[in-house]
Amino acid sequence: MPLPSTQFTQGLGLTVPIIQGPMLGAGTVDMAVAVSNAGGLGSFAASSLPPEGIRKAVQDIRQKTNQPFNINLFVQASPQPTAQELQQAFEWLNPFRQELGLPPAQPLDKYCEDFAAQLDMLVELRIPVVSFTFGLLDAASIERLHQAGSVVIGTATHVAEALAWERNGADVICAQGAEAGGHRGTFMGSYESSMIGLMSLLPQVVDSVRIPVVAAGGIMDGRGIAAALMLGAQAAQMGTAFLTTAESTIHPAWKAHIRQAADTATQTTKVFSGRSARGLANEFMQRMKAHEHEVPAYPVQNALTHDIRQAARSANRPEFLSMWAGQGAGLTRTRAEDISIAQLMTQLGAELEQSFKRYS
Ligand SMILES: Cc1cc2nc3c(=O)[nH]c(=O)nc-3n(C[C@H](O)[C@H](O)[C@H](O)COP(=O)(O)O)c2cc1C
Repeated sequence: MPLPSTQFTQGLGLTVPIIQGPMLGAGTVDMAVAVSNAGGLGSFAASSLPPEGIRKAVQDIRQKTNQPFNINLFVQASPQPTAQELQQAFEWLNPFRQELGLPPAQPLDKYCEDFAAQLDMLVELRIPVVSFTFGLLDAASIERLHQAGSVVIGTATHVAEALAWERNGADVICAQGAEAGGHRGTFMGSYESSMIGLMSLLPQVVDSVRIPVVAAGGIMDGRGIAAALMLGAQAAQMGTAFLTTAESTIHPAWKAHIRQAADTATQTTKVFSGRSARGLANEFMQRMKAHEHEVPAYPVQNALTHDIRQAARSANRPEFLSMWAGQGAGLTRTRAEDISIAQLMTQLGAELEQSFKRYS
């Protein structure tokens, strides 16, 4: 029995309805390539890279696969934090810096890459699929990407966001359920009111838009992919499931914590980056909790905690790492510890087939 195909998978020539979710700080070129070469859609998160860095990553991907792939960016403006805002943030972060042997925090030259320049690079590189989160791309920019031959995916955490992406010309909606690991994509309304579980969110988004919808959040195995397809998704976007593969280069303690995670192990927090994100609860999250709603907004806090997270990685201090993971994390325990992406993709395909057979 062939795996289910959809308008989305057929359009891109995918043989499995799986997107490896873009993962800044965790995904790699090799991870994306392995997924694309296995018939899914590999993604590479490029939001931290300057335009020339994006060009290099894309050249690297193109050397390693001739299959379609996705490049992902955060839609964001370059902020200018006030001296007062920074001073307060430094006071909260300096104790952690001291514990890690870092000098006191200083203002930075820049807090993120220039989004307009990154977008120009995507247009120039004519990427097969481009996806966006944290904001809404204007219609003219989407049209430029279409002229460059790209399929445009917009992330939505509720129906109004999905409708806004559709109105501006996006080709596909990525519906991000509250279960998902990593940052919330919310850009309209409060983060709290957008914490909608995928089971409720997905059919409401599917019923509201005319363009294909892909589903993200808590999908860890073939059952989950089948469930997403049954609810109207045209593919499943999975992040956490790929974090424990052999190709994943995340810190070994982060991998181990994912495999050991209970269903209650994750929380959402703003303390690492200034934007709500789901990860494994740890000491940094707990100690900074009192300031959660006062830390500078993304990307300022993210830039300010960057060297704390780097130092924690080098010093083997997972209690200060941002260990993003979704609510399904513990389901990775059922897989071999050193499972390769090729093996995982084969298993997911077989489980998906089994799930559909069960009900046919
Ligand atoms: C470590 C990590 C980093 C992520 N970074 C990004 C990112 O840069 N851009 C993005 O659109 N989504 C990002 N996500 C979300 C994933 O692409 C995906 O939608 C999500 O992981 C799906 O939920 P799951 O983790 O429950 O499978 C990230 C998720 C994780 C776990």
